[in-house]
Amino acid sequence: MGRSSDPLPEAGPIGIVWAASSLEQPMQPDLILRGANLPDGRREQDILIKDGLIQAVGPQIDARGRDELDVSGRLVTPPFVDCHFHMDATLSLGLPRLNRSGTLLEGIQLWNELKPLLTVEAVVDRAMAYCDMAVAQGIGAIRSHVDVCDPRLTGVEALLEVRRRVAPYLTLQLVAFPQDGLYRSPGARENLLRALDLGVEIVGGIPHFERTMEDGRRSVAELCELAADRGLMVDLHCDETDDPLSRHIETLACETQRLGLGGRVAGSHLTSMHSMDNYYVSKLIPLIAESGVAAIANPLINITLQGRHDAYPKRRGLTRVAELAAAGVRVAFGHDCVMDPWYSLGSGDMLEVAHMAVHVGQLTGIDAMRRCFEAVTSEPASILGLDGYGLEPSCRADLVVLEAWDAVEAIRLKATRLFVLRAGQIVARAAPRIASLDLPGRPPAVSFLHAAPAS
Ligand code: FE2
Repeated sequence: MGRSSDPLPEAGPIGIVWAASSLEQPMQPDLILRGANLPDGRREQDILIKDGLIQAVGPQIDARGRDELDVSGRLVTPPFVDCHFHMDATLSLGLPRLNRSGTLLEGIQLWNELKPLLTVEAVVDRAMAYCDMAVAQGIGAIRSHVDVCDPRLTGVEALLEVRRRVAPYLTLQLVAFPQDGLYRSPGARENLLRALDLGVEIVGGIPHFERTMEDGRRSVAELCELAADRGLMVDLHCDETDDPLSRHIETLACETQRLGLGGRVAGSHLTSMHSMDNYYVSKLIPLIAESGVAAIANPLINITLQGRHDAYPKRRGLTRVAELAAAGVRVAFGHDCVMDPWYSLGSGDMLEVAHMAVHVGQLTGIDAMRRCFEAVTSEPASILGLDGYGLEPSCRADLVVLEAWDAVEAIRLKATRLFVLRAGQIVARAAPRIASLDLPGRPPAVSFLHAAPAS
């Protein structure tokens, strides 16, 4: 099934068959997915869905659904979660000009040229277009930072509207992000408070971009206190630099512990940890683990923006993913940017993000690759505190059927999202990736799937 020797199917995804039942029973599932492989390694599982929720999961369940979908061993996963994104800037590539150097600093300069030109309508239109793309890619939730250094709060107003519009099919969390510095940018502190009052739900910051280390330290303390006072979560752009002495993550961990914020705080990027002294890191990582601060890396952006001041060898800039995870720190990956002043590429594909992490972090061991899949699904869902996420009974039936046999193959292929379900309803679908062949003595088609080796 699905091997390269299979014939080209006449229509529809290979091996997937809709079957509608005429029987009506009181507790009859609305939909049963038959023969699903799950990310935890279970194979050939049936998933029963009723009233938008998962009713049961198990092998060969004796029941008849009103509709049935035989997925024939395809991987079925809860949706991808992008825990770090900038939706106010997405799809703005080329406005008002392209980033010629491709660097972080030119990107910031470019964003500051674009900001006064933004309108709420244009930001809403671009963000909604991106959300369409994200849903089709199987993303069920996005945490987006939104710049609050524009006194008009254009991005805030736009993304609050987008959050309202997409709520039925996409969970959007917003972080009030003083992109030009809480203290460095005049009015940023007041604007951040205004954004929170308007309904932005997470406190952001950028301590390494403040004018001095001391200002950065103070900003972390003040932002954590603000979150504690208001009962909010914290997600700071933290130490997104190659400077090994940028140690604001240490302050973030200590403030988290002092204020009892463990489990509600994330440090995003943490790229300076790549360059830090190893002895210092041996003290730092246990401190982070103890504090309950989560780590969010952005592999596509970190590998392109870090190391820019290096000759050769050039540092990779990705934070210490394997070591943080081994210490018990929750580690997740974000996309960060798609077609904006900082990154010209991207298509909302969290498997592309995981694929890059596997390579840049040398996370090619079998367990490490599986953890990379978790870093774009269950781990960010935990960091965002998503309710009803998962494959347990009573979880919302948000599911993605991938054209892959298991999580590693999903990363390898950046697998096609055959079906995307939100609360048991199909919200996106795509044809499988199959190429016709015209080679003497060879099969008529190739699907790129490959039977998984025994684990
Ligand atoms: Fe970011």
